[in-house]
This record gives sequence, structure tokens and C-alpha cells, in this order.
Amino acid sequence: MQWRQRSYPEDDFLYDVFPPFIGYSNVRIPNRGGWMKMWSHENNGSFISDGTNGDVACDSYHKYTEDIKILKELGVHFYRFSIAWSRIVPTGFVADGINQGGIDYYNNLIDGLLAEGIVPFVTLYHWDLPLGLGRTNSWLNETIVNHFEDYARVVFREFGDRVKLWLTFNEPYEFCRASYNYLEESPFKEPLEKPYVCAHHVIMAHALAYHLYDKEFRPMQQGKIGITLNTNWAGPRDPNSAADLAASSRAMNFTFGWWANPIVRGEYPPIMRELIDRKSAEAGRNSSRLPTFDAEWTELINGTTDFLGLNHYSSHYVEYGNTSTGIEGDAEVRGSGDPSWEQNALGWSIVPWGLRKLLTWLHMEYKLPIYVTENGYGAAASDYLDDQPRVRYYTNYINEMLKAIKLDGADVRGYAAWSLIDNYEWSLGYTARFGVHYLNYSDPNLTRVPKASADKLRQIFADNGFPPNQTFS
Ligand code: NOJ
Repeated sequence: MQWRQRSYPEDDFLYDVFPPFIGYSNVRIPNRGGWMKMWSHENNGSFISDGTNGDVACDSYHKYTEDIKILKELGVHFYRFSIAWSRIVPTGFVADGINQGGIDYYNNLIDGLLAEGIVPFVTLYHWDLPLGLGRTNSWLNETIVNHFEDYARVVFREFGDRVKLWLTFNEPYEFCRASYNYLEESPFKEPLEKPYVCAHHVIMAHALAYHLYDKEFRPMQQGKIGITLNTNWAGPRDPNSAADLAASSRAMNFTFGWWANPIVRGEYPPIMRELIDRKSAEAGRNSSRLPTFDAEWTELINGTTDFLGLNHYSSHYVEYGNTSTGIEGDAEVRGSGDPSWEQNALGWSIVPWGLRKLLTWLHMEYKLPIYVTENGYGAAASDYLDDQPRVRYYTNYINEMLKAIKLDGADVRGYAAWSLIDNYEWSLGYTARFGVHYLNYSDPNLTRVPKASADKLRQIFADNGFPPNQTFS
């Protein structure tokens, strides 16, 4: 069957406008005792869909040279990976000591990548908290801000001579909303304030790491530092309705703006301030559930990112709503999909044009360079090697990104597919597969087997997009 994305204008597949920088994101390596390890073992694995733990996962800890080879064959320019805080600072407190084995591992990985001409793009925090900090109330305790800065200093000092692209946090929206990282089941116990407190501390920690890098390391190391935020495009259900347009703006501010506004402009989005302050007062509280930065912190957080990282998978529509709970409730939005949208195995709608809308919105709103640090297709455990749905996903999403760059002027500097290899997907364990390489988890060698999507991406990357007169089948 021939197919082309026909539901929006400018149907052509674009060519020769690929961002100069292409790569893969992957691999939160199994840690040596952080939160993830404890959580995946807790209650005999009952928090994880298939009862598995992440102790081995894709085992890039032992197989990193093989993974570098695969990256080389795929012709990528960069590789985004995260450093596990607990592997560097086992207890979370630098004063307790540094793990030289962890430093050695990342040195080998970084050196191995550079030897093949692949740029390391490094995330400091991909959700895995050292247990010692979990026990002191994790991101809800303000002192974590300084422990994160101490950890960042070790990492910049040890690796910054070779790493020039840094991300402080990966998707804080997720870990501030989720129950992991908190030593309790639900951070959503009323009153709904913990996600906002967590976010506040993450923003402070981000700012401290930024200034640390800027003052003590950047003069010598000459790198860039940013943050990776995730969001759907939350488009207006009816683009001609003022109420739906306002709902779209609120939704974007309560997801992306929640983090981006403070670090770009020094304050939370005005609409968050207005709505949460009002609801807090109405509930009879004498302070807002959304904390406030004092003058000193406002100055410290303002302007603390060199670029924006974006993780993006799906989109939805929004309109005004007063029945939602949680953050959507505070934002007064109600989300919905469209029955015509295809979904992946996780129920995430596939809406390629949403990426273009989102990139264009980010560009207009923040005027900063953007790196797409994750984008990909989640399939069921039975995912197969001839993964045409993923091939279509990448083809259409990448083309929409190219439109945002070429037609709308978005300053996208790089694109990373998630992920290089099937991964341990948090509470979904091994039941979801995102990789362009297949893993048979019972194969002791964990052989990386390329899927059709790996070939497709190699081709798109090599072609800088989609050369004219291609047919898509
Ligand atoms: C977000 C996270 O950063 C990553 O860890 C996860 O595997 C993918 N998206 C897919 O859910």
C-alpha cells in the first residue's frame, strides 16, 4: 500500500535540511544501588508489569564497545547517554566518597565514542536517585539542591575535558509527577503540592549546576549546558475557538513552560501563578501550592540554559475542563485524541504534525537552539524485526521536524532517536520495546539485532532527509 501523510498541508518530503547533528539516545545503565534498583526489586517486582528488574537490561555496561561499533555503522554524529548519579556517588553524598569504578566506566565509554568520531551528549540525571537521598525525602528536601551541585562538580571535573554537551535533567515533569523517586506510593496525596515542590528544587539544582559550569568549567572546557523537557503538543481541539486556543496555551505552560519559563525568564508562567495561587487561596491555604523564588533565586535561575532539549512522542487536543485532577486540573484543561489517529502499543497517539507545531511553538516562545533529544515508537514485547510501523513513525516525524526547520525557521540543532536498543522501560519492564535494535532477553549474549527501522534511519541520516522521487511503502 502506498501511503503519505495527507492530513495536513505541505505534503512533500523534505530533503537536505537535516540538522547537522544526528544521533541516538539510549541507555540508563543498570545502576549499582540507586532508586531504580530498589524499586524494581521491591515487593518481588510487583511494581513492574512483568515482574522483571533492571539489573542487566541491555547490559551496555559490559557491551559498550559493541554499542559504539553499532553507532559507528549507523553513521551518527552523537550519542546521548546518562550518567547514573549512584554509580559516581554511591550514597548521594560526595563526602562519603566517589566510586572510581564508575568514573573509569564512563571514561572508557567517552574515549571509545570519541575515538570513532562520535560526540558524547551527557545527561546528569535520568531519574535514578542515590538511595541515601531517597531516604532524606529526595526532591522534596531542599538540601538535595546542593548535593546535586556537588555531584555535577565531580562529573564536570572528571569528564568535561571531553564532554562538550551537557543536560542537567531528563524529563523532570515525569519524575516530579511519578511515584518513583519518592519513598512512598503516591506523591499525589492531596493536597497536590509535591510535584510543584519537587519542580522548584529541580529548577534550583539546575541553576546551580549551570552557574557552576559557567564559572568554574566553561572558561576552560568551552561546552554548552541545557535541560531536556518532555511534552506532547497540546493543540486546541477547535483551532477557531478562542477558549480552546487559551486551553492549549495553558496546557503548554503547565508542561513545558513550568520548567522553561523559570530558567529562561526567571519566573513560572504567569498563568500557573494565577491559577494555582487562586486555587490555593480558595482552599483556605495561607500560601500557594506553587512555591515562589525569592529575589536572589530569581536572579540565579534566570537565563540558565544554552539550549532546550526536547523529548517528544505524541500529541493530543485540549479544551477547557473543570473535571480533571492533578496538574491538568490545575491547568483547567481536558485532553482528548482523535479516533482516526493510529496508536502505538502503549496507547500513545501517532501525530507527526504535532512535532512540527511543537517545534514552531518552542521557537516562537523561547527563541533558543533546540535539540530533539528523544523521539521514537514504543511497540509491544512481541515487536518484530520488520518494524514497519516504527519506520513510518520515524519517516513522518522526521519530515515534520524538517518542515519546522525549513518552513517555520525553528532552530533545531540536533535530533536523537529513542532508542538505539530495546530498553528496560521503567514500570513496563520488558513489555515495551523502543529500540531500533532487537534484544532477545533470554539470549545470554544479548545480541543486538537491527530492525528495519535501523536501516531506515541510517538511510535518512545519510541522505539528510528524503531525496526527491522516493516512494514510501
Ligand atoms: C522518556 C524517558 O526519558 C525514557 O527513559 C523512556 O524510556 C522513553 N521516554 C520512552 O518512554
